[in-house]
Amino acid sequence: MKPFFTSKLLAWNRKYNKRAMPWKGEKDPYKIWLSEIILQQTRVEQGWDYYLRFIEAFPTVKHLATAPEAQVFKLWEGLGYYTRCKNLIATASIIHDRYKGVFPSAYEDILALKGIGPYTAAAIASFAFNLPYAVVDGNVLRVMARMFGIKQPVDSTKGKALLTSLTNNLLDKKLPGIYNQAIMDFGAVICKPKLPLCDDCVMKNECIAYNEGLVDAIPAKEKKIIKKVRWMYYIIITYNSRVYIRMRTGKDIWQNLHEFVLVEAESKLSNEEIARHNVIKQYMNKYKGSITGTSKHYVQQLTHQTIQGRFIELTVSRLPDLGKDFIAVIPKDLPLYAFPKFITTYLQEKNVNLSQH
Ligand code: ADE
Repeated sequence: MKPFFTSKLLAWNRKYNKRAMPWKGEKDPYKIWLSEIILQQTRVEQGWDYYLRFIEAFPTVKHLATAPEAQVFKLWEGLGYYTRCKNLIATASIIHDRYKGVFPSAYEDILALKGIGPYTAAAIASFAFNLPYAVVDGNVLRVMARMFGIKQPVDSTKGKALLTSLTNNLLDKKLPGIYNQAIMDFGAVICKPKLPLCDDCVMKNECIAYNEGLVDAIPAKEKKIIKKVRWMYYIIITYNSRVYIRMRTGKDIWQNLHEFVLVEAESKLSNEEIARHNVIKQYMNKYKGSITGTSKHYVQQLTHQTIQGRFIELTVSRLPDLGKDFIAVIPKDLPLYAFPKFITTYLQEKNVNLSQH
């Protein structure tokens, strides 16, 4: 006999789960992989269109592996955490070259691919190949912790190990794909992080958190993310109706994305401090320029950093020499390049149409 959780979850899924998503029931491991990588980055509502655009542009792993990198980055634009996009490209190449375009079907081989951890490997193995691996993500940890009244922090080693072992024991080994999708949907639709629908829940009689009044207290977390604040002032140097951009390289955030001339400051700069800043002043003097616009203050939250700053338009009348990284582009062509969200938000507000992927 199946444990109560497994049978009730599957019954809920059959009777009540109306959640429709484009990747649901998909059997192509390549498409499942794409959807899972996108969904690690964003919520389902936003990921939906990204997924459709990706599979339209790259219907097979071969299309992705042989596409120009810039095209892939442009499609990824706005999702953030660009290491994921780099890994996506690297893994597509490995599957194309080493596996001759056929997605590996053994769990260990899937797990060995770049950018694929136990969660994604379990999702691909179970959805595409019906292999008995349970997915354990934030949703699953929350559902399990509430149902079984686990008070240990879900981000502690002990808590995670306990919940993972519970999840693996409860997996329906005959229907791992259906079970995994059902638990994710249950976590998203019923056992939500905030305001869960306990009154409608088919497991409220068994749910320990519900019966002990601990639904809001579980899952407990121990680690608070401490965010570093960075101050980024972008100088949009315009000469002869062209603006200067370059691709970011190196180990920092936003690798492979484009940016304007960056002045990173230790703290917030006032209007006067911007005008007096020696890098900005140097550009003004050397290239006979003046500040022709200063944007409002922008903020973007990343996982471990808060980015704050402004955009300063600096129009110059001499050809600037900014080094070989920089290229001069007409503003109309900016949509051809991928930028971090911090910059696209500004450009959109300036009415530069960035939507042509
Ligand atoms: N989040 C991550 N993977 C998902 C999936 N397959 N369905 C719904 N939400 C998800």
